[in-house]
Amino acid sequence: MKEIVVSGIRPTGKLHLGNYFGAFKNFLILQEQFNSYFFIADYHSLTTHPTPEDLKGSVKRVLAEYIALGLDPEKCTIYLQSDVPETAELYLFLNMNAYLGELERVTSFKEKARTQPNNINAGLLTYPVLMAADILLHRGVKVPVGKDQEQHLEMSRTFANRFNRLYNCEYFPEPQAVSLGESLIRVPGLTDSGKMSKSAGEADSIYLNEEASVLNKKIMRAVTDSGPQEAGAPKSSAVQNLFDLMALVSTQETIQFFEDQHIQGAIRYGDLKKQLANDMEVFIAPLRDKINTMLGNEKLLNEIAAFGAEKARKNAQKTMREVREIIGFGNR
Ligand code: ADP
Ligand code: TRP
Repeated sequence: MKEIVVSGIRPTGKLHLGNYFGAFKNFLILQEQFNSYFFIADYHSLTTHPTPEDLKGSVKRVLAEYIALGLDPEKCTIYLQSDVPETAELYLFLNMNAYLGELERVTSFKEKARTQPNNINAGLLTYPVLMAADILLHRGVKVPVGKDQEQHLEMSRTFANRFNRLYNCEYFPEPQAVSLGESLIRVPGLTDSGKMSKSAGEADSIYLNEEASVLNKKIMRAVTDSGPQEAGAPKSSAVQNLFDLMALVSTQETIQFFEDQHIQGAIRYGDLKKQLANDMEVFIAPLRDKINTMLGNEKLLNEIAAFGAEKARKNAQKTMREVREIIGFGNR
């Protein structure tokens, strides 16, 4: 039997370059070889209380992006998390066996609690439990995600093993984070804020359907340091970020040229940015066209979501029948 792949992205806006290289690019490859489930994590996005209109818009956009960029409903199962309410039932069961102390220690929770002290809701605290439910619902073993999700995957393994131990069974396999390169990826943002992230503000992210003029402006305004450093000096983190972004879209020769300039202490950041903006536009332009075309195709998107929901629910219902049985609930 083919191994099961599960992953999702929260619909909190539109996909950016970090989502693409950290997660989505691997979806495209994995769908060819495995039994893959790719969903839109719309339950997860409720931790930030979007309006119904914003939620609807973001879900539609991410679905359009999934399809436009090459996920194929015939090769994998594409669905909205909220179309599979079995997810919520498994989340409830797993919550009974998840402990406050371990949830409070999760880095992403601590970070959110620090940055949004007025909205530390229980959904934020139990975010890793819902994520484990997403994965275990399909008994997934391979989970393509970026580096920032490593700790959440560790929690999913903990919950899977704990369930097995409690009920003395071998029901859930251990899910592993995967990337097709050897290691999990972290794409930096343009504002030197750590990883590229929607929550770091508009100027940080490069969106996959960014208009050419906006893209150029964002890159030309990216944070650098005050100047070419002395010959041989190490790069500042902001400048390293620009090189890391270049590594995603530029040719080896281009990168080498700027590496040499940097080593000689002769680099001009304006030139580096101009080149990066140019190469980024070459990369983004075809994605932008495909996404914008797909956004206009509402009927097709609805059909794809309905088709995926049915496939995902079928598998989810099987799991939940078995889980209920294991726990001691009857199935009538
Ligand atoms: P954001 O942080 O912008 O809200 P999400 O948390 O929705 O992004 O991320 C969805 C997927 O994209 C996850 O698999 C995550 O690991 C990956 N991802 C997000 N940002 C990055 C990044 N900067 N580098 C690598 N992967 C990323
Ligand atoms: N937590 C992931 C993120 O923020 C999104 C996600 C939710 C996910 N459920 C998942 C990823 C299950 C992989 C598997 O990026």
